[in-house]
Amino acid sequence: MTRKPIIAANWKMHKGPADSTAFISAFLPLLDASLSCDIVLAPPFVSLAASASALAGSDQVGLSSQNMHFEEKGAFTGEISSGMLQEIGARYAILGHSERRAIFGEDDALINAKAKRCHEVGLVPIICIGETLEERDGGKIEEVLRRQLEKGLAGLDAGKMAESVIAYEPVWAIGTGRTATPEQAQEAHAFARKVLTELFGTETAEKIRIQYGGSVKPGNTAELINQPDVDGALVGGASLEPESFYGIVKAASDAYQAG
Ligand code: PGA
Repeated sequence: MTRKPIIAANWKMHKGPADSTAFISAFLPLLDASLSCDIVLAPPFVSLAASASALAGSDQVGLSSQNMHFEEKGAFTGEISSGMLQEIGARYAILGHSERRAIFGEDDALINAKAKRCHEVGLVPIICIGETLEERDGGKIEEVLRRQLEKGLAGLDAGKMAESVIAYEPVWAIGTGRTATPEQAQEAHAFARKVLTELFGTETAEKIRIQYGGSVKPGNTAELINQPDVDGALVGGASLEPESFYGIVKAASDAYQAG
């Protein structure tokens, strides 16, 4: 295993500033310098500032937004720009989560514009892809992943892609308790890396970290991370409690160190 795992907590619409601060106060003491794992927390927008203050002094945990607008400023009521995120201390932005795609109508072109903006300003995009159950049952996994990658990453710079993160999240595994088997995850990740190789070349594709997301828990992390193309996890439900999220971080770090 050559790529250091990256484990991100996607808190979705949970935890205001007080709860975010309480989580971080309980989580930071669990960490120690021997962990080989990048750790990212993605609180709601309104909790980013409080989270940045609570994290101050820790270089072990990075902050992410759960979304971002592609313009820097203007008449976009209710939106947040990359500059605002950076001002508040975010280093990452989750883009194109399946809930953004399905509930808020985001498409690959919009996600592409957001990813371009991230690269322009130096935020690390965590770009989500994944098929629905209907698409899987219809034998369309590869078609869907290829489209999401080709359109979502169109025109992006290979050098900046090497530092970017892809999150493969099969929609049927998100919040359902139904995790993809390690083999199913590996198959999809290997395919995604093949498309990334076509788009950006082997050297870049080998550097891009591909997270798995969908009902990741402390107990299933190691078997996922042990797959050659699974380089981390994007965690929803199991990231809401410090002990449970730490269990995932520790399992990923141990698997990486053993590998
Ligand atoms: P889950 O969510 O871990 O609750 O399945 C993952 C995600 O949506 O990022």
